[in-house]
Amino acid sequence: MLNERGKIRTAVLVSGGGTNLQAILEARGEVIHHAEITLVVSNRKNAYALERAKAAGIPAIAISLKALGGREAFERELQRVLELHKIELIVLAGFLTILSPAFTRRWDHRILNIHPALIPSFCGKDYYGLHVHEAALARGVKVTGATVHFVNEIPDGGEILLQKAVEVLPGDTPEVLQRRVMEQAEWILLPKAVETVAADMLADPS
Ligand code: GRF
Repeated sequence: MLNERGKIRTAVLVSGGGTNLQAILEARGEVIHHAEITLVVSNRKNAYALERAKAAGIPAIAISLKALGGREAFERELQRVLELHKIELIVLAGFLTILSPAFTRRWDHRILNIHPALIPSFCGKDYYGLHVHEAALARGVKVTGATVHFVNEIPDGGEILLQKAVEVLPGDTPEVLQRRVMEQAEWILLPKAVETVAADMLADPS
């Protein structure tokens, strides 16, 4: 369902600070022309990302996996809310719940994720947030970066859409490296990927 201006209705799923959500919001009208961010959903009610959504006047909903008693009930409620808002594209922006194979199959090629490494490096189960950068520093890589990929039933295993390399510098801590990867890669790639996929969906609505 397109919104009144012929754009793809897009939901952003978050769990934390929401800097990737902020990058998407600030890219509207600059990089993003064919997607409208019409909903933000968090699995954690105190995620600052929800404040960012509210400040932008976007419906911001928290769905607690714990309160609902598990992933199945969580995904049922998530699907209900997505349908209520007539969502067509989902963006995982720092979203830390692994979605079930049934859910990802239902949204095949309609869920994007940003991973803070150059997949297939430092990805998959247990590689999220700072752990990714700790592993990169422990391995001694000189280059890392970020990847945007479609989400399928394999954690970080879906088709790769965009990647951008970032230099690892002597003396980097995980926190310093995370920030550089965000600034130089994540916040650039994710808006670009949202625009590319939304424009493709409009060009070929199949
Ligand atoms: C960051 O480590 C990002 O790489 C990953 O999730 C974490 C939080 O991102 N995707 P955000 O600030 O909540 O967007």
